[in-house]
Amino acid sequence: MQNIVSNFKISGKLKSIEPYKNGLVNKTFLVITSTNKYLLQRINKYVFKDPNQVMKNINFVTNHLKSLNRRTLNIIKTKANQIIYFDNLTKEYYRLYDFLDDLYSISLTNNPEIYLEVGKVIGNFQSDFSEVSPETLVETIPKFHYTINRINYLKEIIKQSKVNMRRFEKCKSICEILINEESATCKIQNHLDSFLLPIRIVHNDTKLNNIMFDKASNKGICLIDLDTVMPGTIIFDFSDAVRSSCATLNEDDPTLYDLDIDDQKFVCLLIGYLSKSKSFITDIELELLIEGIKTIIYECAVRFITDYLENDIYFKTNYQNHNLTRAINQLKLYFICKKKEVYYKKLVQTVYFRLI
Ligand SMILES: Nc1ncnc2c1ncn2[C@@H]1O[C@H](COP(=O)(O)OP(=O)(O)O)[C@@H](O)[C@H]1O
Ligand SMILES: [Mg+2]
Repeated sequence: MQNIVSNFKISGKLKSIEPYKNGLVNKTFLVITSTNKYLLQRINKYVFKDPNQVMKNINFVTNHLKSLNRRTLNIIKTKANQIIYFDNLTKEYYRLYDFLDDLYSISLTNNPEIYLEVGKVIGNFQSDFSEVSPETLVETIPKFHYTINRINYLKEIIKQSKVNMRRFEKCKSICEILINEESATCKIQNHLDSFLLPIRIVHNDTKLNNIMFDKASNKGICLIDLDTVMPGTIIFDFSDAVRSSCATLNEDDPTLYDLDIDDQKFVCLLIGYLSKSKSFITDIELELLIEGIKTIIYECAVRFITDYLENDIYFKTNYQNHNLTRAINQLKLYFICKKKEVYYKKLVQTVYFRLI
């Protein structure tokens, strides 16, 4: 690791490199020198087929945000003046950022003000890019939220028996339920396919722990984990935030009895989001916000069960049935969301018309 870090333009004398937090996708390390702190990340090659392009996107995004005087990730270049380092020995890609020491991230909290901040951070991010042409960025994971492809892929690997059969026996009924609910995933995709929804620059991974808050004021400051910033629909940024932060339990919590979507958290997030997005959100985007929550929860359930059947090649797991637990959790959340759909749609209208 020392060798890797020595290729970047760091200040001070290297003191330590320790694994940092347990993200689902990349491998992260905290680097401490005599004068600074940095965050080193090994980019997941399986998920990101073109790490160079991922970094080019991030470079554009962070430069754009800096030009608007926004706080964002700061890329530390290599000694060869590159934004990414390829280690020939291990064939791995690395990047280095300044460590945002005055900010923090969380994975679950009951403080309603935090949810207002979550909504604002997402709305602000989208607003900062609302005038930027989406073609500026490359789609590094093609059809990332193309939910129909996700379910079709699951059906295909089951049909071709390209699954872990022992695991399939355990989750047959879950797969059946997901396949039966397939129609729930089509509406947004149909709108995208018929060009009825605007394509914009969006974050695509607005989980609560990708939002940084100020340690002193608890205000939401910025979105990090910019790997998936790509052209897409703003609906999924809002809905993935609701999915990941308004649920009463973490997405891998097996104690499903208490699982629900917390209405108070949801309303706070919605108010925060619409207060910042009301100037650019279109009628059709507004109308489909809740459809988005249902779709994204469904998509997650499909992705978790697919990964379970493919022996956990995408999401990091801590135990044998981790992805199965995640899939069951999301499936239950999906049915909870379905039940609340009409109520939530009314809330969107009420909040929106009070804000404008
Ligand atoms: N520049 C940074 N400064 C401080 N903490 C960071 C920084 N970047 C990431 N983190 C922390 O590390 C965690 C994992 O990083 P992230 O980029 O989200 O990786 P993953 O793709 O694995 O989720 C984040 O939730 C955040 O708490
Ligand atoms: Mg993350």
